[in-house]
Amino acid sequence: MAIQTLQWVGGLNGYLKLIDQTALPTKKRYRICRDWPTVFRAIQRLEVRGAPAIGVAAAYGLVLGIRTTPYKSLRDPTGQADYADFHKKLKRVAKKLSLSRPTAVNLKWALDRMAQTARTHKNKPIAQLKNILFREAKRIHAEDRQVCLALGRYGARLIKNGSAVLTYCNAGSLATGGSGTALSAFYQAKRQRKKFRVYAPETRPLLQGARLTTWELSQAGIDVTLLCDNMIARLMQTKKISCVILGSDRVAANGDAANKIGTYGVARLAHAHKIPFYVVIPTSSLDRTLKNGSRIPIEYRSEHEVTTIAGKRLAAKGIKVYNPAFDVTPAKYITAIVTEYGIIKPPYQKNIRKLCP
Ligand code: MRU
Repeated sequence: MAIQTLQWVGGLNGYLKLIDQTALPTKKRYRICRDWPTVFRAIQRLEVRGAPAIGVAAAYGLVLGIRTTPYKSLRDPTGQADYADFHKKLKRVAKKLSLSRPTAVNLKWALDRMAQTARTHKNKPIAQLKNILFREAKRIHAEDRQVCLALGRYGARLIKNGSAVLTYCNAGSLATGGSGTALSAFYQAKRQRKKFRVYAPETRPLLQGARLTTWELSQAGIDVTLLCDNMIARLMQTKKISCVILGSDRVAANGDAANKIGTYGVARLAHAHKIPFYVVIPTSSLDRTLKNGSRIPIEYRSEHEVTTIAGKRLAAKGIKVYNPAFDVTPAKYITAIVTEYGIIKPPYQKNIRKLCP
């Protein structure tokens, strides 16, 4: 059973319960969200993280943002003012939530889908509309679970018996509402009784590989080995690595893929060592409005993430810091893109259009 990264507890008046990933793996604690600013902060601080998971969290965040808007206005017995207030609030909260993190397109995708649902049902009584939006958020979550399973089924085809696979960052249950994107392939391969091992680089600065991926995979009984990021070249040079399998936060129409900082380096190394490099994404991570990866917005994060480790300062005070959270891997270094509709080979522009509705 996949780790329950996000859970909605109760009905419309319930709350969102998140595993606080900043505390893992040493502590398992939860973040309870009863209002949208708590969801906003949880996304910004990476208490909930990973492209699909932040999309699901934002959809629930929007529900928290609109569920208390009044729907019996004394000001306007015709109800027109209520509608205007409701839709204004919905737009405002969606806009704010969309600014919590810029790179993963799933956030915008989920909020756009919620806004579209509100538009489709705009003439329904507000009390009913709140329930419709609540159900839509739950549907986004449930669909993500199904999509993860499909990604696992296609992704597992890339893992041969006896493989050694390199992943990067965390694209597992912790990054989604289900069993993961890239890591779902590992879970499926294990169910198929394939023998394989996984290498997980630590992924500085926030150590998603060391803290999350190794924890998640070892809990599932998968053979996983941790290494520092600067050991990847040596690993590829001296061990037989069968392939690289990882996720992405946004893939442009031509297949260029943004993922955790360091991924581009891994791709170039894989290319130099003739190792296949696979990107596993739900189609909610596709951004067809961008022709290529050059316009993917890259998040820059606080200098503290680089100058400290686990709250302990390493670098001298006043040192200048460079801290992009993502980089973009050009499509030419990607052997195939795995989606819930199947495995896509280059040319991506044409084949994405052909396979993905
Ligand atoms: O900054 P994070 O931890 O949210 O970055 C996450 C990643 O880069 C993942 O590889 C990505 O979301 C893959 S999709 C499961």
